[in-house]
Amino acid sequence: LRILYGYFTLPINERAGSTSPMQVIPGDETLGATIEAVNLADTSDAAIDAIVQALGRHGVIRFPRQTLSAAQLKAFSARLGELEINVIGAFQEPGHPEVMILSNIIENGKPIGLGDAGQSWHADMSYSKTIAFANVLYALKVPQRDGETLGATEFCDMCAAYDDLAPAIKAQLTGKTALHDFSKYWDMMRARPGNTRPPLSEAQRKAKPPVSHPVVITHPISGRKALYANPGYAVRINELPQPESDALLEYLFAHQTRDQYRYVFRWTAGDVLVWDNLRTIHQAAADYSPDEHRFIRRCQVMATRFFPVH
Ligand code: SIN
Repeated sequence: LRILYGYFTLPINERAGSTSPMQVIPGDETLGATIEAVNLADTSDAAIDAIVQALGRHGVIRFPRQTLSAAQLKAFSARLGELEINVIGAFQEPGHPEVMILSNIIENGKPIGLGDAGQSWHADMSYSKTIAFANVLYALKVPQRDGETLGATEFCDMCAAYDDLAPAIKAQLTGKTALHDFSKYWDMMRARPGNTRPPLSEAQRKAKPPVSHPVVITHPISGRKALYANPGYAVRINELPQPESDALLEYLFAHQTRDQYRYVFRWTAGDVLVWDNLRTIHQAAADYSPDEHRFIRRCQVMATRFFPVH
């Protein structure tokens, strides 16, 4: 079997009995592609390799019309790398703590999921010692109003943002590291009017102490450089005095979220969306009301495929 890859076809040894050939259909923006004709509940090793390569090339991949149980979503995600059990420690699928529910649905007076997940720019798990490779989200309910889909997920391309930096800024960033702190994002969300997140516990703070990572990383698939300091978690550039660090981070946060790096993904129920956290930052649109329901299952894949944990 062969994979259609943009203008090219690539050979792929699909397992006997697999269905039709997988097709990678690039979008026309800096990020985004759709992969058709693949059942994520039954993928060969060759298909997984091709998906990883496509992710390195397009950053955000949609798999439409999937039918997956929580266990199947977890099994597919685990083939991309080791799975994180989110430090929030709540809204987990019974029996599958690696699968978290993102939802605004209230049942018996209680939220069944994290209702405000990702509603400000960030890259998942940059606050972790072992950073994230991919997020895998599976939408079962998507809010709609007057025929329009709400609750989109928006991305920015950190390779394109890095490429466009002035040579003097690139030179200034060389060899620099940024400190990333889980509590920055959490406390920012808590400060929003009406937010119901509880304060972080001592155990949560201990589990995710602030960590440092290079401000510029080389992408392990494409070899391109990417800006790796996001507004959600990056708190300072370690090697600079505080005022210079503040000024540079403010500049980078404004630069990396400029319109030309953006890609908006509008969900359809049944979509699985996989994105590359090494190449992108993202945020979820909070443009729907409590009675317009969104229900998504999420797995967070660590970058253990590229940076083994010692
Ligand atoms: C996330 O930040 O992982 C969630 C994004 C979304 O719900 O669209």
